[in-house]
Amino acid sequence: MRNKKSSNYALITGASSGIGLELARLFAADGIPLILVARRLDRLEILQTELSEQVDVKLFACDLSDTIARTQLLEHIAGQQLKIDYLINNAGCGQFGAIADNDWPATNDMLQLNMVATSHLCRSLLPAMKERAFGRILNVASTAAFQPGPGMAAYFASKAYVLSYSEALAYELKGCGVTATCLCPGATQTEFFSQAVMEDSGLVKDKQLPAAAHVALQGYQAMNQAKALTIHGFFNRLRIFSLRTAPRRMATAITAAILKK
Ligand SMILES: NC(=O)c1ccc[n+]([C@@H]2O[C@H](COP(=O)([O-])OP(=O)(O)OC[C@H]3O[C@@H](n4cnc5c(N)ncnc54)[C@H](OP(=O)(O)O)[C@@H]3O)[C@@H](O)[C@H]2O)c1
Repeated sequence: MRNKKSSNYALITGASSGIGLELARLFAADGIPLILVARRLDRLEILQTELSEQVDVKLFACDLSDTIARTQLLEHIAGQQLKIDYLINNAGCGQFGAIADNDWPATNDMLQLNMVATSHLCRSLLPAMKERAFGRILNVASTAAFQPGPGMAAYFASKAYVLSYSEALAYELKGCGVTATCLCPGATQTEFFSQAVMEDSGLVKDKQLPAAAHVALQGYQAMNQAKALTIHGFFNRLRIFSLRTAPRRMATAITAAILKK
């Protein structure tokens, strides 16, 4: 599964746990140096210790929902003249609850992280990739992207944005040597559900969920094959295919019932 050999970096957001951490392991196994970004530096340091025998691993602690912190990350990359061949917009979070009851600052931070940070990093790092005529972008959306999600409305809508943005980006980049891939995981065994306080949701309670490593591998392979879209899991693909003909109101009601505690 070796990639184009390059000493340029892969920048992975949300590498301190879950899918992002597993993606970091895949890049390291292929000898690609890493810039790992997340808020929890202690977690990143543990991963750095694990992977630094294989590749150079740089860390940047950053709250990506914050425009100033994101700008500092981008300035650091430019200042150090770090070349990014792989941009992995994986960091994301969820918020469970009705729109009217949810804490607005938390909703705002989630929207900033899931949508604005992804767009900001793409926009900022793309020109140099295009100039070098090589680059791979992997944006992590979700199967949530394909229908409205009452009970997690803003999260579902944010992932619909990531899907739409990534597919359009893949089209815009055709033929320039840079590609964009959108990975849509279904429910996966990570810290996502505890962070969103939704362990009791019907989506996950008493369910056997796929491991983050499986999901990461599918995204990694799809990115290297320059696929525009990859949906993890046969049943997820089947469900999303069936949504094409289902009335939208019905899909919304079914999703609400699945998400309910
Ligand atoms: N697990 C699922 O069922 C599932 C399903 C579909 C899609 N996804 C998507 O998969 C992606 C990865 O999530 P995961 O499942 O691996 O969950 P996770 O284990 O909770 O990992 C989320 C990562 O994002 C980082 N992050 C969160 N807020 C951040 C912020 N403000 N600034 C910088 N980094 C931040 C976290 O690091 P710090 O806390 O250290 O900052 C962590 O490394 C997300 O985009 C998620 O929406 C997950």
